[in-house]
Amino acid sequence: MPRAAGGQDMTMSSMVADETALPARRHLNGAPVHVGVIMDGNGRWAARRGLPRIEGHRRGLEALRETVRAAIDFGLDYLTVYSFSMENWNRPVQEVADLMALLKRFIRNDLNELHKSGVKVKVIGARANLKADIRALLDEAEDKTKANSRLTLVVAFNYGSRQEIAAAARALAEEVTAGLIKASEIDEMLFARHLDTAGIPDPDLIIRTSGEQRLSNFLMWQAAYSEFVFLPMHWPDFDRQAFSAALAEFSGRDRRFGGVTGQYRNGKLLAGAAKT
Ligand code: IPE
Ligand code: IPE
Ligand code: MG
Repeated sequence: MPRAAGGQDMTMSSMVADETALPARRHLNGAPVHVGVIMDGNGRWAARRGLPRIEGHRRGLEALRETVRAAIDFGLDYLTVYSFSMENWNRPVQEVADLMALLKRFIRNDLNELHKSGVKVKVIGARANLKADIRALLDEAEDKTKANSRLTLVVAFNYGSRQEIAAAARALAEEVTAGLIKASEIDEMLFARHLDTAGIPDPDLIIRTSGEQRLSNFLMWQAAYSEFVFLPMHWPDFDRQAFSAALAEFSGRDRRFGGVTGQYRNGKLLAGAAKT
């Protein structure tokens, strides 16, 4: 059912009526369109407190809720969160089960509020080998929110960047074999259209918590010119303030995209700045 833009804004009031949103909104000039977040450190957060790892994941879910609200308030268009990597299947069976249960709880509990807030949910990662109940929930989340446009929340679940790139290469090869395209037509634009992130602009900023400074198979193609902010705090401690500080740090970065200082603003070539 089509939603009137005005109506959508009114239902947003519970989430955006926050004073702390104002300074960030004034910053919009230097604000990123798309932020990716590697939500790391839940286990260590729990261990430090003598708690089981699942407690860290539960608190991590709280931090995710706050981060989504803040992303709306800060005026981002896309927020991609790394919630489960393909390599995370290597964890103990019980922890994997806990993480699956948490994802289900997140969608069951939060989908309505996300929808009312105008959030469009998009899931990236492999779907085929997931259990049917999880697949159904992911489909429901995408389907219910597909007409929303306030913020796109991209959930990287059962996601791996190398696997995504290999799948794109496979799909292109099949198109060549079927005679649909010529191999010589494959360029970076066509390739990007075969990734899970087709149609989503590359992340301007990637934030990783927990002190680790690596991508761990997250958006490797898409992060070609992303800025990185690595924070020592663990994910359950990430909040609106930490998010705002990361955005402020981003706004001070000089993104050159291989060009020279001053040619670009918010990832776009400035008018009059010749691409020489
Ligand atoms: C991030 O926290 C959550 C997932 C990877 C699912 P971790 O569980 O990786 O926590 P640490 O890194 O072990 O502390
Ligand atoms: C990356 O964190 C995956 C997610 C945050 C979902 P990991 O904890 O799995 O990464 P490594 O193992 O430290 O590289
Ligand atoms: Mg970790």
